[in-house]
Amino acid sequence: MVRETCLTTDDLIYPLFVKAGKNERVAIPSMPGIYQYSPDTLIPELKEVASLGIPAVLLFGLPEHKDDLGSEAYSSEGIVQQTVRTIKQSFPELIVITDICLCAYTSHGHCGILEEGMVTNDATLASLQKIAVSHAAAGADMVAPSDMMDGRVGAIRTALDSAGCIHTPIMSYAAKYASHFYGPFREAADCAPQSGDRRSYQMDPANSDEALREIALDIEEGADIVMVKPALAYLDIIYRAKQQFGHPLAAYNVSGEYSLVKAGATQGMIDERGTVMEILQSIKRAGADLIITYFAKEAAKALQETEFRSQKSE
Ligand code: PBG
Repeated sequence: MVRETCLTTDDLIYPLFVKAGKNERVAIPSMPGIYQYSPDTLIPELKEVASLGIPAVLLFGLPEHKDDLGSEAYSSEGIVQQTVRTIKQSFPELIVITDICLCAYTSHGHCGILEEGMVTNDATLASLQKIAVSHAAAGADMVAPSDMMDGRVGAIRTALDSAGCIHTPIMSYAAKYASHFYGPFREAADCAPQSGDRRSYQMDPANSDEALREIALDIEEGADIVMVKPALAYLDIIYRAKQQFGHPLAAYNVSGEYSLVKAGATQGMIDERGTVMEILQSIKRAGADLIITYFAKEAAKALQETEFRSQKSE
């Protein structure tokens, strides 16, 4: 009766990695329990997701071919576009959010187009527009740009509107830090930069005022939901963002946060379920409305059990 924060299954978004092929379900060694799926093997996984009441998934694609420009990212026959069509046929109620970025599609692994070895912001915007429109055309319910180029929310909004996709919302990775917690993801999505790092476009972990400026810009450009990423080491940013803007806010409980808990639990150092629920509750308490988490299925299962609805502490 006096609990201030209630985590519910409705708050959860489950990330999924999809790759071309048939009958593929490839384990990701650094993320126990997480796989890369081909569109056919994704179906049973989605059945479980839907039956647990998880309302939304976030799709990341692994293309067949990479090139300098990441052109497969905006092909109508690309892996994400195909998968969205498949999901929408079998699970029309499931909210399908697609990641908009080039890094898994470019041969150099950067989130933007390179000119003389440097990521160029403005040249990248046109590609992001094409990706967003192709995902929306395939049936995506929402697009989520994660590249951190300046001006991309406005550019994507304009492109979606002129393509007639006026009802497709944008969830923007507004304050995305250049974080070591993305390590396992880069194995999962095969998107590690081949040279240099992402510090010219992602944020310095030492900054928090800058995060608020980034979020303000994205809201001004038309972001429907803004995101802070990672979550656990950035609860102060989540808190400030919610206090200052009161805008719908998502937090990304990223791959490294997942793998650390898994590693600790596997070695018997911590209780997995209790730790997961405490972490997710803390992210919500800080101010997140939505949580993107690889633990979505575990959390949904826990929430079905009375123990975690009226959570007792150890
Ligand atoms: C791509 C992208 C990354 C993540 C989501 N989208 C990696 C990166 O920026 O290097 C990380 C997600 C995670 O670690 O779970 N731009």
